[in-house]
Amino acid sequence: MPMVRSDDPLWYKDAVFYQLHVKSFCDSNGDGIGDFPGLTSTLDHIASLGIDCVWLQPMYPSPLKDGGYDISDYTSIHPRYGTLRDFDCFLDAAHARGLRVIIELVLNHTSDEHPWFVDARRSRDSPHRDWYVWSDTDDKYRDARIIFLDTERSNWTWDPISRAYYWHRFFSHQPDLNYDHPAVREEIWKVMAFWLDRGVDGFRVDAVPYLVERDGTSCENLPETHAVMKDLRARLDAHYTGKVLLAEANMWPEDIRSYFGDEDEFHMALHFPIMPRLFLALRREDRTPLLDILARTPSIPASCQWALFLRNHDELTLEMVTDADRQYMWDEYATDPRARLNLGIRRRLAPLLNGDRRQIELMTSLLMSLPGSPIVYYGDEIGMGDNVALDDRNSVRTPMQWTDGLNAGFSSADPERLCLPLVSDAQYGYTAVNVTAQQHDPASLLNWTRRLIDVRHSTPVFGRGATTFLTPGNHAVLAFTRTLDQQTILVVCNLAGTAQTAALELGHLGDAVPVGMFDGRSWPRLTPDPYLVTLGPYEFAWLHLKRL
Ligand code: GLC
Ligand code: CA
Repeated sequence: MPMVRSDDPLWYKDAVFYQLHVKSFCDSNGDGIGDFPGLTSTLDHIASLGIDCVWLQPMYPSPLKDGGYDISDYTSIHPRYGTLRDFDCFLDAAHARGLRVIIELVLNHTSDEHPWFVDARRSRDSPHRDWYVWSDTDDKYRDARIIFLDTERSNWTWDPISRAYYWHRFFSHQPDLNYDHPAVREEIWKVMAFWLDRGVDGFRVDAVPYLVERDGTSCENLPETHAVMKDLRARLDAHYTGKVLLAEANMWPEDIRSYFGDEDEFHMALHFPIMPRLFLALRREDRTPLLDILARTPSIPASCQWALFLRNHDELTLEMVTDADRQYMWDEYATDPRARLNLGIRRRLAPLLNGDRRQIELMTSLLMSLPGSPIVYYGDEIGMGDNVALDDRNSVRTPMQWTDGLNAGFSSADPERLCLPLVSDAQYGYTAVNVTAQQHDPASLLNWTRRLIDVRHSTPVFGRGATTFLTPGNHAVLAFTRTLDQQTILVVCNLAGTAQTAALELGHLGDAVPVGMFDGRSWPRLTPDPYLVTLGPYEFAWLHLKRL
C-alpha cells in the first residue's frame, strides 16, 4: 500500500515512480496506438504494484521523430493519444487512487515543426527569430560535444530558408530555444502553469544542462542555465505547493549536485552515474565501482532527493564511465553489436541480466534500498524483453504485455497496425511474459516486485534515512545500513554468482537482533565481534535491527 501522504510537500521522498509511454501502454480504440482512455483503464495495475507517481513520456503534438521529445505544441495532447479532456480524465482517475502524475517538460528545444521555429526561419526579421540560436557560421561554441554521435555530425545545421545556421544539441530537427531571450523564459513558464493548473504534480525536466550556450565553454551546466532554472523554481514556489521538479542532467555527481542549488532549483535529480556502476559491480562481482561513485556523490540539501533507476526509455548511457569501463560494459552486456547506440546499450533489464531471476531481484532490491526514490520502467516489473531489430531506442519501447491473447491484450488492431511490434521471441514474447499470467502466479516477478515495494513502503527509512556503507574484506558483498530516528535497517547483498561469506563490523550498533523484513526470521544477535554473514548466489537481505 502506498505510504505517501497526500498533504506532505516532501511526498517525492517516499514515492516509488513508474515511467511509461502512453503510446505503448494500452490502446482503447483499436487503432494500434496506446491512448489516455486506455491508460486510465490500466490504473489498477499501476496502483496494485504500489506505485505512488506515474511519469509520462511526452504526450504533446509532435512529428514523433524523437519519441515525442520533438514538441510542436506545448499546450495540447497528440491526437493519437486522445484529447485534453481524456488527459484530464486520466489525471482525475489517477488522483482519485492517490497516484500522482508528472509529465515531461522539454525546454531545451522544440521540433522544427513548432510554429515558433517555422516563423523564426521564415525570415531574419520574423518575431520569433531570436527565440532560437542562429549564426552565419558553424564555428561558434566549438567546445560543445555532440551527444547523438551516431546520427549528428555537428551541433549546427544550415537552414536554406533563412540562409543561416541554427544550433541544436540533439537531432537536427530539434532546434535549441534561446534562453537568453526573456520571451522564451516567459513562454516556458506559461507552459508550466498551463499543466500545473490542470493538476499535474510536477515535471521531469528534459536535457537541463544545455539551456544556455557561451563561447569558450562546453555549453553545459553554465551559471546562466542554473539561473533559468532558479527563476522557474521561484515562480513555481510562489504559485503552487507540493509540486516536484526532477532534473535530467546526465553528468558527474558533483555537476548534478549543482542542480539542487540551495533548495532553490530542483527537488530531485536522476543519479546517472550510479546506474552503469550497478551493472559493472554485478558483472565484476565487486562492489567497488558502486562505492567509489557514492563516495564521489556530494550530500544534498534536506528537501532534495536523488532519483534512481535501472533502465529507462533511452539507451543505458555510458557517458559517465571511463573508456575502459565502457568497453567492459559493451563486451559484457552488448555482445550483439546492434544493441549499441551512441555511447550506450539499448536493452531492457531482464535481457541485460540474461533473464536470470536472481540477478533481476538483486538489482531491483538495490534500486529500492539505495538512497533515493526508485523509478520502475514499465514492463520491467514483469521482466519484459527488448527488440534490437527495431531502430533507435524503440528497442525498449514496445507495447506492454498484458495477456497471452491477441496483441498481448494491448490493442485489438490488426497486428501490423501496432505502433511498434510486440516482443514475440520464445523467452520474452507475450505468450511467456505477461501481466495476467504473473498475476495468477504467487511466485511471479510481478508479485515479488509488489511485495518488495510493499516492504519498502512499510518504513520511511529507505526514502529518508542516512546511509553508511560497510567495508568487509570480501568485495563481492555489498552491505550498508539505512537509519532514521531510532530505526536501522541493514542491507546485505551478494553480487556474486557463488555463495559468499563476509565479516561485518556492526559492534557500534549494540546487541540488536536482525529480523528479515520479508520473512520475519530472526538472525543471530549482534555482538561486539565481527558479524559473519553467508549469502547464496545473488542473495540479498533487508534486516530490521530490533532491540529485543
Ligand atoms: C533526453 C531524452 C531523450 C531525448 C533527448 C532529446 O535525453 O531522455 O529520449 O532523445 O532528451 O530530447
Ligand atoms: Ca488508440
